[in-house]
Formats: sequence, structure tokens, C-alpha cells
Amino acid sequence: MKIDIDTTLSCDVLIIGAGGAALRCAAEILENRPTAQVVALTKVTHPQKSHTSTAQGGLAAVDPKDPLDATVYHMFDTWKGSDCTADQNVVKIICESAWEQILWLENRGMHFSRNRDGRLSKRTFGGHTRNFGEASVYRAVFEADRTGKGIMDTSWGETLKKGIRFLNQTIGVELLIENDWCHGVIAFQQKEGKFIRILSKATIIATGGSGQVYRVTTNCRQNTGDGLALVLQAGLPVMDPEAVQFHPTGIVGPGILASETLRSVGGILRNRALEPFMVDYAPKMRELAPRDLVARAIESEIREDRGITNPDHQIAHVWIDLTHLPDEVHEKQIPEVSSFFKRYVNLDTKSDLCPVRPSNHYHMGGIPTNAWGEVEDHEGHPIGGLYAAGECAAASFHGFNRLGTNSILELITMGSIVGRRVLNYLKDEVKAHHDPDPLIFRSKFEGYLDNSGSESIGILRSELRTLMTDKVSVFRTEESISEAIEVIHEIQERAGKVSIANRRLPMNQELLQRWELDNLLLVATSICHAALYRKESRGAHFRDDYPSRLDEFNHHTLVAVDHGGECHISQRQIDMSLFEAGGEHSEKFGFIERSY
Ligand code: FUM
Repeated sequence: MKIDIDTTLSCDVLIIGAGGAALRCAAEILENRPTAQVVALTKVTHPQKSHTSTAQGGLAAVDPKDPLDATVYHMFDTWKGSDCTADQNVVKIICESAWEQILWLENRGMHFSRNRDGRLSKRTFGGHTRNFGEASVYRAVFEADRTGKGIMDTSWGETLKKGIRFLNQTIGVELLIENDWCHGVIAFQQKEGKFIRILSKATIIATGGSGQVYRVTTNCRQNTGDGLALVLQAGLPVMDPEAVQFHPTGIVGPGILASETLRSVGGILRNRALEPFMVDYAPKMRELAPRDLVARAIESEIREDRGITNPDHQIAHVWIDLTHLPDEVHEKQIPEVSSFFKRYVNLDTKSDLCPVRPSNHYHMGGIPTNAWGEVEDHEGHPIGGLYAAGECAAASFHGFNRLGTNSILELITMGSIVGRRVLNYLKDEVKAHHDPDPLIFRSKFEGYLDNSGSESIGILRSELRTLMTDKVSVFRTEESISEAIEVIHEIQERAGKVSIANRRLPMNQELLQRWELDNLLLVATSICHAALYRKESRGAHFRDDYPSRLDEFNHHTLVAVDHGGECHISQRQIDMSLFEAGGEHSEKFGFIERSY
């Protein structure tokens, strides 16, 4: 079958994605330059179905009027939480502009929850402390336990008002890069079955996460690492892919997120003997330790035979106990999560212990960018006209472990920062649209449609996800990662023997899934090679065979994959500007010990 490009579309700004980061970025551009033509592609049927809509807990932001909190504490917590791998210039910029972002949302109508005095309510969240680790701090503002939905409603409305053009059910399949400059993308409109060329002065990748690499995940079905695969396929690296976050409390069975809010409002993790075990792992912070630590604690309880296995599903788990909390907490603070437990496992959070186990949740790693979201190559040179923001990007605010509520903060802040950067670029360097020849997508899609064989996309996808969950999860070893690399290679070969029954282009779900399978394989490959390279434990990357953090790995990992499928590893320095600036508190930003 021969694939052709149907039409060419030109615009000022193209955003691949339409979740929180994408919409915040678009709003920044359109509010300041109403004549800009901004096009946003969304893989799903409507921007509101983006994964940001599912975010529950809140956004971390230091209220300048809070006498107990300070921005420097937030910076310190983020640095310590990252296991000393966040880039400090990025940490400073994001923490310092956090409250401004809350005001932006509030002024545009977001319904933040408020307390009886009419002030914004705040929550504690894991690893957020006052006075450099002294005690938990109330720092996360929220809209009940559906904060992401509030963000999407607000930013979607803003962009719609200002004239954004959405192309729904449309995926970016090849970046048009020539001489280190990006001129747009080849996109596939699934509904129409058409490939189109979109030429843009600025292209922003905001495709979200890659959670579908794992079998048990809190991520939506569409999170298949498409943005990471786009850059890898263009010969660019991804950064720190081995840094994969497992949320401690996925609802056993579906893996759906049971928000950290449950622990913030007083939920207690208990093992089979009903002992509250977190005291043994994080004596001070207990349930409010950072996620990597709590996830390891739960998995350790299970490994040491103190978990519970329900004969119905045979999945070992621990309990979260919420039964002691007042009714008002269940009804006002955790109504969504309580309804999830009711709907998916028929349990009542007021009276039943609820089964939880770590579930893949977030990718700290992603497309390497500088502090303004400009995508960089393996030598740190920016690719002209190419930006990334949100979960698919790594600036890096989170390093090797993200604190809860820092992701929504990051996507909103980096969205606005990229928007401002693009505005500047449009003002100063307006370039004529150039039209480089695409190199990859035709043979790729023709191959998908023409290949024959008896392999099944569903089976291969499921084998890959099970493999990653079993071998490259909360705990890893050289043996388990090497085994995963070998099997991924076999799955890649078998993927060439998938025959697609429906060879028409419009509404071809098999074709989409075949493309997603390649993306998942590419992202899994980068995760495994980086995890094998990093012979130490840091943040969410825990190697049973190298259980300590080692100074020789005080750097980011860059992984590129060449056309023969070979992985190339290089390094990027961690920005230590807060430490190097000297002065008050600078010693807190060295390679500090991490205990809670
Ligand atoms: O647990 C949660 O509500 C998730 C928050 C986050 O990932 O930041």
C-alpha cells in the first residue's frame, strides 16, 4: 500500500498534545498575541479526555502569606526528593513562580477548595516539609480530589475563547527536522485516515506520559510514550528514562490511582498483621515520606511475606486504613477516591480496609530541555523551533523522584514558560516555513499495512507490559533488566510479523495500536538500557544489586537509539546553581543524605 500526504497546513505554533501543559502554553501565547495561529493535536476524541483530567491531589505552591512556609523550603524538598538529581536552576524558577500560577488559574475561574474562613485550603503531601525537613507542611492547593479536571476546564475554556484550533484524534508521526531546526510534523488524522504535513514556526511536544509501558498503571490508555518515541526516532536522546515513578497506592486490580490525599488526611498503611509499618521505613515522615520510599516499603512488606493475598485475584497487597476518619473527610476531601473503591472493588472507605499496591504513575525522565523548555541534543545544543513541556519533558524539576503535587505545578509552570519563550521567538526570529522531506513515516506505515504473519498486537503489547512490570519495576537487578532487554528484542522481531486485518486508513484502531506498540517498545528499550547503565540506586531507580547512591552517577543519563536499534548512553551535568551561589542555605543544596 502506498501512503501519501494529503494536505499541508501552516501555523505559527503547533502543539502536539492538548493536556494541561499544552493548554497552559497555548493560553499564554494567545493571551499575549491574539493573532497567533495556534494548532493543538490531541490523540483522543476531545482535549478534556487528556490524562491531566484524572489528576487528583493538588498543586504544590508556597503561599507568600503563609508564616510557616517559604519558597526555599519547597526548593529544598524538591531537591532532596529528587535524590539530588533535579536541575537547580529549574527548581528555583518553578518554585518561585508557583503562586503566580495559582493566581492565574483562580483568576480564570478555577474552583479551588476553600476553608471556612474563605481562604484556599491546603494539604500536606509526601516529602513537603517546613524548615528543611522539620515537619510536614500544608502546601498543596486543590479542588477536592479532582484538581486536574479543574485545571483542564479552566485552561481549555481560556484557549477556546482565544481561538485555538484543535485537531482531535490526530497523532504526530514524524518531526520535520533539518539542520538542527524543527519545521513541524507529519500528522495522521485517524478519523479521516489522512496524513497531513503541518508546518510551524514553533513546535511544542506535550504528549504526556508513557505509563502504558507497564501492565499495572494509573495512566490512561493513551499514554504510550509517543513524544519520547518521536524524538528518539529523530535521532535525539531522552533523559533519565530509568527514573520511573510507582505510586505507592494503586487500587489493587485495576491499578487506578488512590490519591496520596488518603495519607494526607490521615490514612494509615497496614500489613497483614494490621501493623502500621511505615514507622519502620521512615520514622519521622511515615505515610508522608516521598513516593519512592513508600512504594519500596510496601513492596518490601509483600516480599517479606507480610502482605495479604486475596484468593479472588491472587495479587498481594497491603491495606490503607481510612476507617478512623470522620465522615466529613470521606465526603468532602476524598469523594472521588472513595467512589473508585466502591465502584471497582465494592468497598466502603468508611468501614472497610482498602487494598493497595504500587502502580506505575509517572515518568520523571523525558525529552531533555533547558529551563525554557527548548529541546536539546546529546551535546546540550537546542534544536531550533522545538520545545517540550509536561510529563513527556525533562527540564529537570523532578530528578529521580517526583514529589506528589509537583507534577501539576510543573506542567502549568513550564507550559507558561514555554509559551513566553515562544512569544519571544515569534517576535524576534520569525522564519519563513521551510519544508524538509519526511524520511521515516511512509515506510513505517506502509510496513504496518503490508506485513504479514500471525502475531497479535494485543498479545505482544500485553507481554511487553507484563515483562516491564515483572522485571524493571520498583526493584531491579542486572539479571532482571538484561532479561527484559532480550525479551524486548524478541518482541520487536515478532512485531514485524503482525498482520493488520483492516487495511483502510480511516478509523483504523489496529493501525493506531501497531504504531503505539512500536512507541512502547522504543520507550521500554530506553528505560532498560539506562537502568542497566546506572549501577547504583537513586530515587525511584532501585537496584537490589547496587543498593546505595554513588557519587560517580551524579549526572543525568542520556539515551539515544540509532537506526539499527543500538542504544548510546551519554551524560548531562546536574545544574547545581543554588549550591554554587553560596550564601544562606546553599549547603542544603549539596549532595545531601536522604532520610525521612
Ligand atoms: O496522589 C495523587 O493525588 C497524585 C498526585 C501527583 O501525582 O502529583
